[in-house]
Amino acid sequence: MRESSLWIWHIFAGLVILVLLGIHMFVMHLDAILAALGAPLENPIDATTVFERSRQAVFMITYILLLGAALYHGLYGLKNILFELTLPKALEKATAWLLTVAGLLLFAYGTYVAVFVFMTKEI
Ligand code: HEM
Ligand code: HEM
Repeated sequence: MRESSLWIWHIFAGLVILVLLGIHMFVMHLDAILAALGAPLENPIDATTVFERSRQAVFMITYILLLGAALYHGLYGLKNILFELTLPKALEKATAWLLTVAGLLLFAYGTYVAVFVFMTKEI
């Protein structure tokens, strides 16, 4: 794929992160905001609460989207930083290959976890 279209995907992934991470942070801090308004304080990372969210399709899908966007955006950005060092061509190729493989493995593992928990009936 041409470098310019990879860069456009990088910007697009940044926008996806902006929206989904915004929601993620809102969900993770919502209870503290509500508690400040007088509601009983619940822990958003309590195992039962995490499980209740993770069993809903909408959360499972957005986790996978955020995972993909953050991995692509972060690793492509890291690749750009490393390429600014004007490395030898072979080292550039190896770096790009390594980052691509690492990204794909992490994406596969994170997707597996999200789908596995979504399909788990009880903890
Ligand atoms: C609010 C969400 C985010 C937005 C809107 C955003 C947007 C951007 C933009 C516009 C660039 C510059 C691209 C360019 O000019 O080539 C950039 C670069 C970068 N971003 Fe993000 N980003 C976000 C979150 C993140 C996160 C969570 C990470 C870490 C996983 C990250 C890692 C990077 C890296 C490593 C670069 C490359 C820096 C460089 O080229 O010097 N960003 N981002
Ligand atoms: C205050 C900071 C954060 C807290 C407390 C937090 C907490 C959590 C928790 C508890 C989960 C499990 C799912 C759930 O309970 O809904 C989760 C999943 C996830 N978080 Fe965060 N998070 C934080 C920041 C971030 C940031 C900065 C990113 C990315 C830039 C991120 C990306 C993700 C992704 C991709 C998943 C899904 C992973 C998967 O299922 O494979 N989180 N987070």
